[in-house]
Amino acid sequence: MHIDILSAVPDLLISPFQHSILKRAETKGLLRVDVHDIRKWGIGKARQIDDYQFGGGAGMVMMVEVLTNAIEELSAQRKYDEIIFLTPDGETLNQGIANHLSLKGNLLMICGHYKGIDERIREQFVTREISIGDYVLSGGELAAAVLVDSIGRLLPGVLNNETSALFDSHQDGILAPPVYTRPRNFRDWEVPEILLSGNDRAIEEWRDEKALERTKSRRPDLLKD
Ligand code: ADE
Repeated sequence: MHIDILSAVPDLLISPFQHSILKRAETKGLLRVDVHDIRKWGIGKARQIDDYQFGGGAGMVMMVEVLTNAIEELSAQRKYDEIIFLTPDGETLNQGIANHLSLKGNLLMICGHYKGIDERIREQFVTREISIGDYVLSGGELAAAVLVDSIGRLLPGVLNNETSALFDSHQDGILAPPVYTRPRNFRDWEVPEILLSGNDRAIEEWRDEKALERTKSRRPDLLKD
């Protein structure tokens, strides 16, 4: 998978993809993330990328011409399956969306800043608008990092044990059960006996039960459908 990200603050995206699972994905050649500074397409000597909004009001808006030039130049190099704008008024990211996007080949993500981007970009180019939650970030970069992480770990071959993503919270619509590791007893805080029993079937049943219990108490909304 190839992901291009357009950002006015590319430095914010240097670190997130250079560690752990996403780093492994990149090393294995399964995922490539290229972050592009929007200022490269900025206008004039000052490389201007934003301007005051028509109709007045506080906050700058990212300019239609700048973003059009950026998107068209990148689109000439690669055919995108989706052009995604990260925005608090988009559809809320969930595991289903991450699963769906992980099956794509090329994605372009646009990070907004200031007051937002000129609406014409959304009308003309953007195929999907995604929010990572009902709160406002100062830009789309951290949201893009979250989105890339949620997608990248799902690519076949990225996780050591490919089945492990199958047992994540949300992967089958419910939360994951509790997990434990050594020691068995720490300050008299015991690990549930059943996990030490070696009875795979009983352990599986216990995990299903705990997952359901946890979902009922913490996220009953997930059980509605
Ligand atoms: N940009 C600012 N806030 C955001 C959010 N919650 N999700 C995605 N992009 C954003």
